[in-house]
Amino acid sequence: MKVIKEISAVQDISDYFKCIGKKTGLVPTMGFLHEGHASLIIKAKEENDIVFVSIFVNPTQFGKNEDFGKYPRDFERDYHICEKAGADYIFYPDIKEMYGENSLTSVTVSGITERLEGEIRPGHFTGVATVVLKLLNAVKPDNLYLGQKDAQQNAVVGKMISDLNVDVNLKICATMREANGLAMSSRNTYLTEEQRTKASVLYFLLEKAKKMILEENISDVSEIKEIISDTFKQMTPEFELQYFDIAENKMLTPLSDLESFEGEILISLAAKVGSTRLIDNVILRKIRDRK
Ligand code: PAJ
Repeated sequence: MKVIKEISAVQDISDYFKCIGKKTGLVPTMGFLHEGHASLIIKAKEENDIVFVSIFVNPTQFGKNEDFGKYPRDFERDYHICEKAGADYIFYPDIKEMYGENSLTSVTVSGITERLEGEIRPGHFTGVATVVLKLLNAVKPDNLYLGQKDAQQNAVVGKMISDLNVDVNLKICATMREANGLAMSSRNTYLTEEQRTKASVLYFLLEKAKKMILEENISDVSEIKEIISDTFKQMTPEFELQYFDIAENKMLTPLSDLESFEGEILISLAAKVGSTRLIDNVILRKIRDRK
């Protein structure tokens, strides 16, 4: 496995593999890798001849008061995880290589970035869309691998790809979880042992909402939201539920009555656990009961 730091070098390597008929995949990351990232690399390796993993803690997607400075970093450890999962190249640019001295261009996807994470983290998705397009222009992969864990990010990147005619296939991979259901995340390292145990409530609530829809046939979204919010307060009064949302999965349009809805539903939430923000989601397919 090789580590590449320059955009021009990674572009040349990509051109070479294209020229000799090899399929390439890209797994973009911000490092401090865990089994969730590894699962994307493994999937990419199954479906491509050559796998690039990018490791870049992207400053433009962090707000002023967010954790850019203290975001966990450990390149040695990441290197071994990438190698073990089957990556061929790590693209590991520094900030100057990615943004130069005077970068003036950014990509803003409107609409779907205005709610949920976008509402709480203004500007975040412009940073994400811009860096993902830059990574795609550097690595020029056939396939791009993202995790279901960041559902809104996937919607934003998917829309950017189709709106800007980017020539890449987007592949979304399942969320990897700890044994207690907590979604794996680089930010879980900020949690104490006790918080990590209690944070399993987030997944429990997503599954509970899913059951309410699929098994108890509750179709009033405000009723589901109220029950979830009450249960959250009861089970983890020390945590803060920032949002609990039920939306259609592609454009993230909020849903209020599920009675006549058919299709994919995204149930997502964000919570503050101490000073750490955690997000998670589940998807379900709803097919109308035809009696
Ligand atoms: P990062 O948080 O490092 O995540 C990189 C990729 O790993 C994302 O597609 C994310 O959804 C996926 N991922 C994270 N946790 C996962 C889990 N538990 N199971 C499966 N996949 C998981 O997301 C980013 O970085 C950045 O925003 C990036 C896209 C790299 C742009 O800077």
